[in-house]
Amino acid sequence: MKIEGKEYRTIWFENNKVKIIDQTKLPHKFIIKDLNTIKDAIYSIKTMEVRGAPLIGATAAYGLVLAVLENKDQSFLKKSAKELIASRPTAINLKWAVDRMMYKLSGVNSDKISEIALIEANKICEEDINFCENIGLNGLKIIEEIYNKKKNTVNILTHCNAGWLATINWGTATSPIYHAHKKGIPVHVWADETRPRNQGANLTSYELNEEGIKNTIIADNTGGILMQRGEVDMCIVGTDRTLSNGDVCNKIGTYLKALAAFDNKVPFYVALPSSTIDWEIKNYRDIPIEERNSEELSHMEGLDEDGNLKKIQVYPQKSKAMNLAFDVTPAKYVTALITEKGVCEASSSGLKKLFNK
Ligand code: MRU
Repeated sequence: MKIEGKEYRTIWFENNKVKIIDQTKLPHKFIIKDLNTIKDAIYSIKTMEVRGAPLIGATAAYGLVLAVLENKDQSFLKKSAKELIASRPTAINLKWAVDRMMYKLSGVNSDKISEIALIEANKICEEDINFCENIGLNGLKIIEEIYNKKKNTVNILTHCNAGWLATINWGTATSPIYHAHKKGIPVHVWADETRPRNQGANLTSYELNEEGIKNTIIADNTGGILMQRGEVDMCIVGTDRTLSNGDVCNKIGTYLKALAAFDNKVPFYVALPSSTIDWEIKNYRDIPIEERNSEELSHMEGLDEDGNLKKIQVYPQKSKAMNLAFDVTPAKYVTALITEKGVCEASSSGLKKLFNK
């Protein structure tokens, strides 16, 4: 997708380096950063220079390419894989990508290992782009249906950033929106700010602006009243881990939006590539929920009067704060899942029909 009119992907490999867009500096500064070592890759995932379930999976895959370029020893590779998986616990794509890479690389002792690693990491990215494009085409039909009935702008609420910045291209939740816009359907997005890291304001609104899509940032608590007023036609969110029964783990606050949508009969869709499905965990209480540093809540960063990035404290110094990063929306509140293979009920039978598992 575009930034200042130029097409970008969120991650690519060039001259034995991984190139990323540093998302901690957006929307104020657009910085392309080099990752040179596996340590750099782990750091960029932990600090959220790269974030979003599919993108951290892709970064982990390229991280292993950097690992084998650094040291071809299998024990170094195993240690790197373990550290990558531990770097952010909730999004399953991270483990999915590392397992997929390790399946190709375990036991390979020839010089070819770096070539094999790069081919697989590139494949993971190409596949993700393809999946996200198909999610867009499948979700487009839903937006089209609403538009054909309403004959007016379709208002879509989204939470956090499940946009192209969270994937390699297109995004998951945003892909149907981009496809609708390209087809000439008038759309307007309510972008939940998404405290504490403000991915909705800093990333979703930013990327929609760059693509010329109308959007309005709202505080996280505003969605409910907009739904009561009939100002939301549908919600589309992403997910970091979807269980085989259709329960959806996504950015903290998603659950509350799903409850409000349910109460107001607003359809609530979750867009996901199959790499986000956890076929193993059966009970949502077993999903590891990331708890991040409370400083993300107590401090905020923005531009000061001179245009410099500045961090300030906004909470009382003596107060304790708690920063859980994800919550789970039970399947019963999800209208349907939009996947690369089609749209299905958020249930075991719905997912089984599409994925044959
Ligand atoms: O903590 P983040 O910014 O990595 O969380 C991202 C989200 O919750 C997204 O909604 C999710 O990864 C879906 S991304 C396509």
